[in-house]
Amino acid sequence: MRLVLLGAPGAGKGTQAKKLIEKSGIPQISTGDLLRAAVAAGTNLGKEAKSFMDKGELVPDRVVLGMVRERLGQNDCKKGYILDGFPRNTAQAEALDKMLETLGMPLDSALSVDVPFEDLMKRLTGRRTCKSCGQMYNVYSNPPKKEGACDKCGGALFQRDDDKEETIKKRLDVYTSQTAPLMDYYKKKGILKSVTGVGSIEEIFSKVCSALGC
Ligand code: AP5
Ligand code: MG
Ligand code: ZN
Repeated sequence: MRLVLLGAPGAGKGTQAKKLIEKSGIPQISTGDLLRAAVAAGTNLGKEAKSFMDKGELVPDRVVLGMVRERLGQNDCKKGYILDGFPRNTAQAEALDKMLETLGMPLDSALSVDVPFEDLMKRLTGRRTCKSCGQMYNVYSNPPKKEGACDKCGGALFQRDDDKEETIKKRLDVYTSQTAPLMDYYKKKGILKSVTGVGSIEEIFSKVCSALGC
């Protein structure tokens, strides 16, 4: 499986990617997660990225492309990859195509997870993530059994810095103007699939699996 996951902020890309990893063992490459790790580690790249992320804007292509190129070159990607949150604009999509051609591992599918915008604000303001294992929760729709602690590993849950109402609004605008056009990009290539991302996480996962044939 060589897959790009498309969808607005909060559509459930990360949630569905984690289920796909469990099922197929194929690695998830989330540019958002890689950038947050760089911010937490305090690297120069992380410092540069943080100023854009806090505003809900895209981090410059040069930064993101370098990170993705390095990650796709690692051995575990030979069996496939799930790109989550990348590409995010046409320039990134074109650069990705070139990169994958050089590596000899072109995309099979781009899967769009579609959720009405009015649902996304609640999903994002309610999201909590485990510091230790990355498992996602939602205080409204999918709360942990014990408040503030991860069901899987007991780790502490945190709220992302960019999950504030003002920043979310900006992220949704950026999605509409820069990322949504990628649906057409992949449709023209004949590899676009889509599922409705409304319903339980399990229901959506079974639609994802039938769309991808996994
Ligand atoms: P990134 O980390 O990619 O964030 P995003 O695209 O805004 O998407 P999210 O991670 O917020 O949403 P998701 O679709 O993964 O949803 P999730 O599964 O968590 O990017 C962050 C920032 O980094 C960007 O703004 C940018 O600055 C930078 N960046 C990243 N990539 C970049 C790139 N390529 N180029 C430039 N800059 C880049 O689910 C959300 C919540 O909903 C959770 O609480 C979950 O439990 C809940 N939920 C999931 N499914 C359901 C359901 N079916 N019903 C109810 N609730 C549900
Ligand atoms: Mg995510
Ligand atoms: Zn955990």
